[in-house]
Amino acid sequence: MILVTGAAGKTGRAVIRALQARGVAVRAWVRSPKQAMAGVEVIAGDLLDEAVWETAVTNIHALYLICPNMHPHETTIGQLAIRAAQKANLSHFVYHSVLHPQTEEMPHHWQKLRVEEMLWASGLPVTILQPCAYMQNILGGWSRIINEGTYTVPYPLTTRLSLVDLADVAEVAAKVLTEPGHTGATYELCGPDAPSQTEVAAILSQVLQRPIRAETIPLPQWQAQATNLSQYARETLAAMFTYYGRYHFIGNGNVLTWLLKRPSTTLTNFLHQHIQQQNT
Ligand SMILES: NC(=O)c1ccc[n+]([C@@H]2O[C@H](COP(=O)([O-])OP(=O)(O)OC[C@H]3O[C@@H](n4cnc5c(N)ncnc54)[C@H](OP(=O)(O)O)[C@@H]3O)[C@@H](O)[C@H]2O)c1
Repeated sequence: MILVTGAAGKTGRAVIRALQARGVAVRAWVRSPKQAMAGVEVIAGDLLDEAVWETAVTNIHALYLICPNMHPHETTIGQLAIRAAQKANLSHFVYHSVLHPQTEEMPHHWQKLRVEEMLWASGLPVTILQPCAYMQNILGGWSRIINEGTYTVPYPLTTRLSLVDLADVAEVAAKVLTEPGHTGATYELCGPDAPSQTEVAAILSQVLQRPIRAETIPLPQWQAQATNLSQYARETLAAMFTYYGRYHFIGNGNVLTWLLKRPSTTLTNFLHQHIQQQNT
């Protein structure tokens, strides 16, 4: 059985779907017992609770560690996970990191680098996945795209970001967890393109067959509107957007294609699939 943390989040659900497609038994770690999930064994609790870790890894052979998005204590969660995995003598620890964790200007990347560092010192059989930004992030602004014809981002429209379909990342996660030969590897997972935000809007226009305009929202205005986020998340996301605007966020798609043994999903195909799913 494989333990997947952050199971009720978008990454967790995608990875569990991919594991289920391979017929693998999954224990899903969710935050609250109210977050029921079909077809898996569920364990609920805080990822910072050492006692829950001990129970969570019982009768597990592999762990897929997904830390909550923008969590101020990701390194502590990493420490607890490593200690539990060592005690339970797990045969594989796969960590869902991020592209370019060595970027100190982005605090959540820097925390992931610290977890990676601890993993390599842990003596555990480790694999690290480093995805770039998900194509799914665009869907966060979907109603504005559809209703107002605008695609809004808090960085300059010239900013280029490598994008990856989370379903491709999940397929790789399931592969790495169920096939031999991946321990000791760090895989950067990027889709085929790194479009500018103007180019993303052009692809949206083409797929939706009507004009979608890209626009930048000034960062202070974005911060003032992001009242649903914790202060850490707001500040960390602002640091990330500033970094994106200065340096872009671009990786290379070769590793993902090699792992999938097929071309990775393009933004155009991802959007077509999303629209098709909405209409069914
Ligand atoms: N988004 C991207 O483009 C991208 C790219 C590369 C890497 N990543 C990384 O992928 C990871 C997952 O991101 P995501 O977007 O899938 O996150 P997400 O949708 O926010 O899911 C995180 C899950 O963790 C749960 N959670 C939060 N705090 C918890 C705690 N203290 N104890 C137990 N569970 C807790 C949340 O519970 P609730 O449901 O109750 O909130 C949620 O279900 C992050 O580490 C992120 O940095 C993301």
